[in-house]
Amino acid sequence: MKEKYYITTPIYYPSAEFHIGHCYTTIIADAIARYKRLSGFDVFFQTGTDEHGLKIENKAKEAGVTPKEYVDKIIENAKDLWNRLNISYDFFIRTTDDFHVKKVQEIFKKLYDQGDIYKGEYKGLYCVPCESFWTETQLVNGKCPDCGRDVSVVTEEAYFFKLSKYQKKLEEYYETHPDFIEPVSRKNEMLNNFIRPGLEDLCVSRTSFKWGIPVTFDEKHVIYVWIDALTNYITSLGYPDITPEFKKYWPADLHLVGKEIVRFHTIIWPAILMALGIELPKQVFGHGWLIIDGGKISKSLGNYKDPREYIDAYGVDAVRYFALREVPFGSDGTFSEKALITRTNSDLCNILGNLVSRTIQMGIKYFEGNVTNPNVSEDIDQDLLDSTSNLQAQVSEKMNELKINEALECIFDVLRKCNKYIDDTAPWALAKEDANKNRLETIIYNLLESIRVCALFLQPFIPETADKILTSLKVNNRDFDNVYTPVSRYELGLEKPANLFERIKED
Ligand code: MSP
Repeated sequence: MKEKYYITTPIYYPSAEFHIGHCYTTIIADAIARYKRLSGFDVFFQTGTDEHGLKIENKAKEAGVTPKEYVDKIIENAKDLWNRLNISYDFFIRTTDDFHVKKVQEIFKKLYDQGDIYKGEYKGLYCVPCESFWTETQLVNGKCPDCGRDVSVVTEEAYFFKLSKYQKKLEEYYETHPDFIEPVSRKNEMLNNFIRPGLEDLCVSRTSFKWGIPVTFDEKHVIYVWIDALTNYITSLGYPDITPEFKKYWPADLHLVGKEIVRFHTIIWPAILMALGIELPKQVFGHGWLIIDGGKISKSLGNYKDPREYIDAYGVDAVRYFALREVPFGSDGTFSEKALITRTNSDLCNILGNLVSRTIQMGIKYFEGNVTNPNVSEDIDQDLLDSTSNLQAQVSEKMNELKINEALECIFDVLRKCNKYIDDTAPWALAKEDANKNRLETIIYNLLESIRVCALFLQPFIPETADKILTSLKVNNRDFDNVYTPVSRYELGLEKPANLFERIKED
């Protein structure tokens, strides 16, 4: 039986149209999901939208529509964006889905019945645009630390989750599960800034707005944010019913989240799961932000374009490649259209595209598209052959550590070696003499084999381009089990391949 792998993105707020920052997390999750599928795992990849709350209620009011109408339109666009980015999610959950609403109500009632949720009074400093309560010490110059706007004091009757009860258990859990939070700097931040100073009980209901899931036993309350949002990862599998899907896929193997919500996923979420008596996710990875001109790309600042404009202009794989390659995973990185163009030209066009088209054209020109291996080898071949045969181990090591940009670097190193191999062996010179025919064919064959192996490993990252390459090489066996089964004869046909990437003008 296949081993399972359950990976999630955060569920995004559909308070405004999605930007390249949302694409960033989703593209990374997609690349990991595809990598695991090709490696033989039974993958469940979930994404979705977090649709309740005051901010969306207000936005809808401003737009003169109902909250549901407001989010429906954004979600239609989000799904279109994910399709255009070739996001291979298995399930898209919306927190307004009937099944989710019902299951969240059951979970809330269960926690209340067992004493983990109680009724109290909430007084706090609240930032409306960010939908966040802050403590006095978290404010920056008296303003919201996220968006810099005013906060207001809010007092209301509310239900609380006994988060404080789980402080010790969380500390113990972190200690016995050293891989639970990655990168490790984020784990230290959670321990030192939040858990050790003491956890306060968490407000989990509101009476001041209506757009949320009602508490079944106290209807003036709606469930506030985290119990509604975080439980998406289990309601989709049927929980609180212990369904075959739940048994199979839970616990999640990886929750991929931006650094600003690591706290919710590594403190609140585990505590809720401990209270429910179910296993914790194996790992939460908190990645950095894509920033523009030194600031976060933000819906409230409105400093971004629709990502579909970049796809239209440069192609889906240019956008995917940039997200995966440019920023060391875990750190912040800068997004700019200029950097996207430079990256596309230098890697996708110069290194990959040119290599593939040069090699196929030589196969057509010198061998009418039929290339086998006459095995006329020379020492100069060894470096390329070794790098190609080490690639699987290298990519696998990097992907297991979620060093995605480094996995891509390994593949591009081999592609660079192919280009150098062409320069060093100078096939056009060999082609001048009939006596060199077998040596020439060996060279083209070696190149095709290396390109095939690289294209197989590029599938998770730039699936459309990898498919084009593998289709022109007529490779049908595409999972990672068959990477090192050599193709005995390449039948390339006689048609000149279309360019994979056109050079983009840089100005
Ligand atoms: N709804 C909550 C998450 C609930 S999960 C149970 C939320 N939504 S959000 O719309 O604000 O999206 C947050 C996520 O989008 C971040 O954690 C991150 O994964 C991604 N990003 C949003 N902006 C981003 C950047 N500028 N850069 C990188 N990722 C960004 O928080």
